[in-house]
Amino acid sequence: MKSSEKTSFIRYPFSDSDLKGALGGFATGITIVTAKNNKNQNIGITVNSFSSVSLDPPLVLWSIAKSAKCFHDFFCAEYYAIHILGEDQKFLSDQFASKDADKFYGLACAEGIAGIPLLPSYNVCFQCKFEHRYEGGDHIIIVGRIHALSNRSETPLLYLRGTYGSFVSDA
Ligand SMILES: Cc1cc2nc3c(=O)[nH]c(=O)nc-3n(C[C@H](O)[C@H](O)[C@H](O)COP(=O)(O)O)c2cc1C
Repeated sequence: MKSSEKTSFIRYPFSDSDLKGALGGFATGITIVTAKNNKNQNIGITVNSFSSVSLDPPLVLWSIAKSAKCFHDFFCAEYYAIHILGEDQKFLSDQFASKDADKFYGLACAEGIAGIPLLPSYNVCFQCKFEHRYEGGDHIIIVGRIHALSNRSETPLLYLRGTYGSFVSDA
């Protein structure tokens, strides 16, 4: 057995940094979720917990931290857009992950279903209607049904161990 194959487990309770470090080994894409709040203001958040759920019906999920300032607004949002970012859109990930910033600064958004803000740049965009909500510890899991999609087939922005990168094909 190679030393790299030795079994070494840290039993619960593990530290936050051990858990985050392990979870960070799962490479993801990056999405921006946008919606309107009940004051008709644009809201948005950077999210990498996005996942596909079902093809028929077309369902996707993401989770939002209960500690997020925009938590209540997204909890109540009936419609929202999920933008999967392309490799040149890292600035959007930073902008929508920042606290207190005007997240929509400098962005000329279009309007989607029910007036939801659609970002000008993305790789793929889904316009979704809220369908289910599940308890998820310090997060809430939100499942939505895709009502419209736009696929620009750009190279995606990737995220692994706290850093951004691009996809390199083996083909
Ligand atoms: C790469 C990345 C992925 C993130 N993924 C999520 C996520 O899936 N869910 C979540 O609630 N916050 C996620 N965050 C954190 C939020 O984007 C961030 O806390 C945001 O500022 C919260 O908005 P607020 O101003 O409403 O609190 C992520 C941040 C980054 C940088």
